[in-house]
Formats: sequence, structure tokens, C-alpha cells
Amino acid sequence: MRVGVLTSGGDAPGMNSALRAVAKVGAALGLVVVGVEDGYVGLLEGRLRSLSMREVDDAFRKGGTVLGSARSKVFPTPEGQAQARDTILREKLSALIVIGGNGSLTGALALSDAKTFDGATLRVGGIPASIDNDLGATALCIGVDTAMNTIVEACDRICDTATAHRRTFIVEVMGRDSGYLAMTSAIAAGADAVLLPESGKTKEQWVEQVARAMEAAYQRDSGKRRVLVIKAEGVKLDCAELKAAVDERVRTTLPGADTRVTVLGHVVRGGVPTALDRLLASRLGNATIRALADGQSGFMAGWFGPGVANKPSPYDPQIVFTPLKEVLEETARMLRGETELARWRRKVFDEAESILLR
Ligand code: F6P
Repeated sequence: MRVGVLTSGGDAPGMNSALRAVAKVGAALGLVVVGVEDGYVGLLEGRLRSLSMREVDDAFRKGGTVLGSARSKVFPTPEGQAQARDTILREKLSALIVIGGNGSLTGALALSDAKTFDGATLRVGGIPASIDNDLGATALCIGVDTAMNTIVEACDRICDTATAHRRTFIVEVMGRDSGYLAMTSAIAAGADAVLLPESGKTKEQWVEQVARAMEAAYQRDSGKRRVLVIKAEGVKLDCAELKAAVDERVRTTLPGADTRVTVLGHVVRGGVPTALDRLLASRLGNATIRALADGQSGFMAGWFGPGVANKPSPYDPQIVFTPLKEVLEETARMLRGETELARWRRKVFDEAESILLR
């Protein structure tokens, strides 16, 4: 049985660890695992290659993905789909593992009725990997823990220089439309305020929130030498514009206040995966390839936790399989703030927001 594996969408630290698990467990099960280069772009162009144990062992500890990743514009079109299906037939793939986020798993679902060379249907398994942690049916995605650690380390460094100069820093972190990474990093970095898209505020309200955080921080501790504000990327307000408006707002209440902006951008997505991400990726990879070998298809392997309803898998008590269609529906509901988990996160975000002001 030939199993293709690809990494797609924004890369996430730990993707290589998942590739290693898939390659090693696959080999132990007697399967042939082949890597697809550059996500769906490589699939429709027929760029497949073997993955050696040496390569995946070397890559295991590295960020990025040895297979490369891409956001294909052609794959979702009828021509792209047809080309991908041709590759599946020509390369005699019986199964495909997709490691990625929302868009990548949408692609996996679209291929779950593809025909294989022997007339069977392609078996498809998804593994959640996205620093945004914005997928339903998994408590955690590969890459989130490393990204959070990177942000916290960056904030610690920023706080050194902020303290030296008695400055306020607004640090923007990635996360697309989700405030998860910003919120968790803000707590772990000891921030004074956090700006989250889930709060749905206006520009004036964001400015007021930062200004009040600065005033509260300097008021309760006149010797305070730094204020740290974490802003999620999903808050649609340019950092320079926010800074200018905040400076204007505190001009009389905090004369001499000195603010700076740092946009961490793609720094957050790179780097050596943490032990947690390596383990998470290894366990998800192990369960996924075992399930495919046993004939299961059309699922995503998720990490058990809040918002994950299904029972643990027979391969790992922490791993839960959910049909891809349900994963995508749950994700859409979560992004609209309609799931129990989204409501719970919102409540915690609101509580934390006011506590940070104290
Ligand atoms: O989904 C991961 C992510 O890093 C988001 O946090 C961010 O909004 C987006 O990808 C950036 O995409 P790109 O690397 O294509 O600019």
C-alpha cells in the first residue's frame, strides 16, 4: 500500500516530527510512504519522492517542513482537482495524509472520494497543524506550543529593553482571525493588556483599552518601568495607527509616555519545535497512519480536550478521530463564536482582560 503525505498551508513547527512518525510507523506496518512536495501544488504537478529515515530523523528537531508547503490557488478549481486525481491514480496511491490547517483539510475532504488504481476509494487522514489553533475537534494543533514559546521569549527580550527605557510596547502576534495565541502568550509573558479579535471592539475602544492599561499600570506602581500590550493579528487596526492614537489619547494623562511597536510576524512561525509539539505530532502521526492501514478514511486525528466530543481512538487514549466534514463544520461554527468552546474562550478572554488591568 502506497501512502502519500503532504504538508500544506502555513507551516507549523512540528510538521517534520509528524512526517517522521508517519514514515517510521508506516515502514513498521509494511507500507510505502512517499512525500508530496509543496503541498497540493506538488500533488497536482506529480512531484512525489521517497522519504528516507535519515532525512526524517534529521528533520525531526527542525522547524518548517522538509517537504515544503504552499497555498495552491489551482487545487480548488475543477482542473486542479482533476490533476490531483490523475496523480493519485498514476502514482498508485491508496491513501493520503494531509498535515495542515483549515484550508488544507478542506482539500483533504474534497479528495476523499478519489478513485485509486485498483478501483477502490482513496483513504484520507488529516493531521491538525496550525499555529493559530483555530480548528474544531482538536484541543491543540501542531505548532501552537512552539509559537507561544517564541512569542514569550520575544516578549521577555522586549521587556528588557522596555524596562531600561521605561517604555510601553505594543507587540503584534500572528493568529489569523483567532486570538488564542495572543491570549495564551499574554498570560505567559505577563502582559498588561491583550487585544483580541473575539472582543469585536471599535478602533476607539481598542485605543481606550491600551490607554487605560497604561494608566492603570503606571498608577498602581509609579516605579513601573514597562507596559506590555499584546495585539492579535486578527484585530484589524494597523499598529502604527494604533500607536499614534494611543499617544494622542495619553498625551495629557501620561506626559512623556514613550510607546513602541513590534510586529513579530513570521518569526512566530519558525523555530525548533518544543518537546510538546514533537510529541503531539508524533502521536497524531502514529494514530493516523495506523487508522489508514486499518481501513479507516475521511477523518482528522485530534488531541482530546475541551470541545472534542468523540471517544478516544484505539491507538492512543489521547487521540480522537472526527469525520473531516464535522471538523470543518465545527471549525466554521467555532470561528463564528457559536460553539461551547468558543463561548468558553470568549468568557475567559473577557475575564482575563479585566484582570490584566488590575
Ligand atoms: O495560518 C498560519 C498563519 O501564520 C496565520 O497566523 C497568518 O495570518 C498567515 O498564516 C500568514 O500567511 P502567509 O505566510 O501566507 O503570509
